[in-house]
This record gives sequence, C-alpha cells and structure tokens, in this order.
Amino acid sequence: MGNSMSLFDGGDHDLGRVEALLRTEQIGRPLRVFESVTSTNTIAAEWAEEGAPHGALVIADYQTQGRGRLGRTWRAVAGQNLTFSIILRPDCPPDRFGLLIIAASLAVAEAIEEVASPIRSTIKWPNDVLLSGKKCCGMLLESSLAGTLTNSRQAVVLGIGMNVNQADFPLELSDQATSILLEAGRRMDRAHLLAVVCAHLERRLGDVHTSPRNVRRDYMARMPDLGKPVRFRLSVRDGAVQGVALGIDEGGGLVLETDGGPRIFHAGEVTSVGK
Ligand code: BTN
Repeated sequence: MGNSMSLFDGGDHDLGRVEALLRTEQIGRPLRVFESVTSTNTIAAEWAEEGAPHGALVIADYQTQGRGRLGRTWRAVAGQNLTFSIILRPDCPPDRFGLLIIAASLAVAEAIEEVASPIRSTIKWPNDVLLSGKKCCGMLLESSLAGTLTNSRQAVVLGIGMNVNQADFPLELSDQATSILLEAGRRMDRAHLLAVVCAHLERRLGDVHTSPRNVRRDYMARMPDLGKPVRFRLSVRDGAVQGVALGIDEGGGLVLETDGGPRIFHAGEVTSVGK
C-alpha cells in the first residue's frame, strides 16, 4: 500500500478533513487517505477483497500509476487535484452496471455546479465531465473478484479523477483539458468538493434503483452531442462508425442512428463530427 497521510495535517485544503465534512450514510464510509499510491483503483480492489463495504473510499494525493480508460495513463499533479476510488457492491444485475457510471458522471457534474456556481458542466459519453467543452473529470469502472470469493455482493471499483486547482496543462493537452480553477476563476477546497461529490453520488447511485429513467433523462440533458452527428470508435485501433447520437439505453449504452439502423455501444469513444 502507499504512505498513509496524517488525517489532520492542518492545511486548509487538507484531504484528511473529508471525513468530518461528509453528509452521507454509505458513500465515503469508511475511508482511507494516502499521500501516494500506485493507483487508488488497485488499493480499493485489494481492500474490496478484504471485505470493505459498499461505499468505502480510497483517496490519494498522488498516483504513480494512475490508469485511464482504453489503456491510457491518468496523470494528476500532487496537491492540486482529486484522485479517488469508491468500492460499490451494487444491488442490481450486471447489465445495469453501465448505468452506475452514467449516474456517477451526473453526480460529479452536479457537484461541480454546486461548489463552483455559476459554471455549467456537460457530459461526454460515457463519463467525461466537461467544462467549456474541455475535460475536467474522467472515470474508470473496474470489476473486482471480491464477492465471488466471499459471500458478499460482487464489488466494482469506481475510480474518479478530477482536475481541481491545476492552473496549467501540458501544451498537447491544453485544448482538451481544463480544471475547476481555470473555469471558475477560484481555488476550490478539495476536501469540501469531495464531500459534496460523495453526497451527489449517494443520491444518484440510489436513483439507479429507484428512478433509472430520471438518471437517463438528466444525463441526456447534459449530452452536448445529443441529436448531432458523431464518430464512434471502440478503441484507438478500430475504424470509426458515424451516426447521430440518439441517447443512452437502459444499460447506459450509447444509441447511435447509423446508415444501417440504430446501434448500441457499451464501450468506446465518441467525437463530435467536425472536431
Ligand atoms: C479516463 O477518463 O480515462 C478515466 C480516468 C480515471 C482516473 C481515476 S484517478 C482515480 C482512479 N485511479 C486510477 O488509476 N484511475 C482512476
């Protein structure tokens, strides 16, 4: 495991304050805070195998091997951003797991708007939260063996990376990436932001069971490409499919109207036509 961080190191933005700020019942409880780890998703998967409950949270100020979607690397500057993972033991069939990440993106988009009003966020399918059309947050949902080994429900690990107080990005990313600081013009208290994210996650993950239609409706209202032509790729090696984004289905899949009729995709990457 990584180096455990003092929970109360006195700084205004100290991540150790998260626990005291939480207003949730399950998400974020219990939590472990580290100064540096390989990847919070790895630490969370290990913890899940030891039996960590639904909602348990792993936070790190820095990751040496942060992972992104589609085999990419996730790099985040220490002391500025949020990198964390939540263990979920969903009470729903695996074909609904896709909707969890849809609900999680919606929760993060709403949390950012709460703390950084009046900025507005959109969501690029499946789970990139955008500010002014640039990526501010990405998510990675990974399954864990835990639960198949024990009698508890199967665990999945939801990893979230948010660009919070980073003031500049490498040149090659600067037209695609942004932070809340750059958009809102003020620094955020990371501990407070994370507590707000946990509250929105708790509500929206609950909605996956009680009102999945609302999750889909509210998510689609934030899709900048809804009703517009897009290009879709399963991976960087695959050719592109072109179509019009019609929305998402009950499992969180992207529905595209293509020349061959409607098609549903469960993983991959979308780009607006014209970009
Ligand atoms: C993406 O957009 O490609 C997904 C990025 C996910 C990054 C987060 S940071 C916390 C967690 N730990 C990881 O190694 N990855 C996720």
